[in-house]
Amino acid sequence: MRALRVLLVLLLAVWAFLFVYVVRWFRERFGRGGPMPASQAAELLHPLRPWIHPVQQMLDKFRLKPGNAVLELGPGPGYFTIEAGRMVGSEGKVVCLDIQREMISGLLKRLDEHGTTNAHPMVGDALNLPLADDSVDAAYLVTVLGEIPDRPRALAELRRVLRPGGVLSISESLMDPDYQLRDSVSDLCRALGFDVLDHSRQPLGYTMCFAAP
Ligand SMILES: C[S@@+](CC[C@H](N)C(=O)[O-])C[C@H]1O[C@@H](n2cnc3c(N)ncnc32)[C@H](O)[C@@H]1O
Repeated sequence: MRALRVLLVLLLAVWAFLFVYVVRWFRERFGRGGPMPASQAAELLHPLRPWIHPVQQMLDKFRLKPGNAVLELGPGPGYFTIEAGRMVGSEGKVVCLDIQREMISGLLKRLDEHGTTNAHPMVGDALNLPLADDSVDAAYLVTVLGEIPDRPRALAELRRVLRPGGVLSISESLMDPDYQLRDSVSDLCRALGFDVLDHSRQPLGYTMCFAAP
C-alpha cells in the first residue's frame, strides 16, 4: 500500500513537471499572446543586456537626430529612452507609449532619476496611437511587435503618424518569446508601402529600418 502511494506521488510529480515543461515550450514557441508582465520589467534592465542590445549603436541605426520628434512604442521601463532623449536634445522629444500603466510608472521614475525632461511617457495602445498624422520623424519598437495581436493594424497606425520619409525601426531578439521572423516583418511593412532602408544584426537578433511612404 505504501509503495503504491509513493508511486502515485512520483507519477504526479512527473506529470506536473511535464505539464510545466510543455506549457513553457508552447509559450516560447508561439509567444505570450500579449504584453510582457510588468512584474518582469527588471529583466529589461539587466546589466548584461548591453551585450545583446548596444543602446548607442542601435539608436544610431534608428537614425535619431537632434530636434527629432520620436515615438518609442512599448518602452517598458525605458532601457533605450534616456539615451534617445539625449540624442534628440532639448529641441526634440521622445513620446513613449506603453499599454501598461505599471511600465509607464517605472519609466517615469527612471526618467526622473536621470533628469530626462524631453521624454513624454503615456499609457496607450499601439492599435490606436494618440498622435496626429505625419507628426513624428522616427519611430522604433524593440521586442514589441510580437506582443501586439493585430500587427498589420499597428503598423498602419505607425505609417499614419510618421511623416513621409520618416524612419520606422523594428528590432527583434531571439531571447524574446514573441520573436518575429525578419521575412514576416519585412513582408508586413512592405505591404503597407514602407521601403526597406537597411537590415543589421545584433547578437541574437536584428534591426530592420524602413522609410515611411
Ligand atoms: C518586451 S517589452 C520591451 C520593452 C522595451 N522596448 C525594451 O526593449 O526594453 C514589450 C513592451 O511593449 C509593451 N506593449 C505590448 N503591447 C503593446 C501595445 N499594444 N501597445 C503599446 N505597448 C505595448 C509592453 O507593455 C512592454 O512594455
